[in-house]
Amino acid sequence: MKITVLTGAGISAESGLPTFRGAGGLWNGIRAETLATPEAFAEDPHRVLAFYNFRRGMVCKAEPNAAHIAIAAVEGPHQVTVITQNVDNLHERAGSSKVLHVHGDIMTARSSHDPSLKVAMDDRDIEWGDLAPDGSQLRPDVVWFGEAVRHIDDSLQHIRDADRFLVIGTSLQVWPVADWIHHATNASARIIIAPDLNQCPPGFEWLQGKACDHVPRVAERWTRAS
Ligand code: OAD
Repeated sequence: MKITVLTGAGISAESGLPTFRGAGGLWNGIRAETLATPEAFAEDPHRVLAFYNFRRGMVCKAEPNAAHIAIAAVEGPHQVTVITQNVDNLHERAGSSKVLHVHGDIMTARSSHDPSLKVAMDDRDIEWGDLAPDGSQLRPDVVWFGEAVRHIDDSLQHIRDADRFLVIGTSLQVWPVADWIHHATNASARIIIAPDLNQCPPGFEWLQGKACDHVPRVAERWTRAS
């Protein structure tokens, strides 16, 4: 069986990483454009680097939770692809082997001029003056507003081909990912897990609540299914 899982910040909330929207969200009280755009980096690189250094530090201290671990466990009997908007590495650390990071990866830095020139940061901060091999300033290897989302064709293919489609912890407010969920036309089960949603997308079953409460149960059911 082919299972495709689409995740957002909510799946890492119970690992202690804040979401963007909602109570305690990173975008509460600030405009995302002041921290997550190329223009913000050009205007005040110190502020932008500090924001991502802070978040990389939190990711290093966080551990995968029961939801990340349950998704990885479904890989035994089934073909699982995780498409994540998250820049953390908790899916990989839980054991998932196929993870598409459509908004990039906070553990990696890249050249400001050449996106293909990457440097692994692990737990190190990116400082102003840290240079890529081409001599340009390093920046986080994340997708900022106005930049191209990654793995679009591959993600859409995995969503279209899915026999089961699970969406976890995303407010579905950011384009184009929000639109991708409507392509899961082959899936006999389409489930969305979140404590709150503006509205449940058509054709989906909404399991209202936290990822760690619902994902292990769904994963266990699907692990047993052929
Ligand atoms: P959001 O912060 O917009 O939405 C998080 C969702 O997770 C909300 O629907 C919450 O109800 C839900 N949630 C909170 N706690 C949860 C829990 N314990 N279990 C399950 N769900 C929970 O995050 P995203 O939808 O991921 O992009 O945001 C999308 C993009 O917006 C991010 O990738 C980021 C941001 O701006 C960029 O920075 C480019």
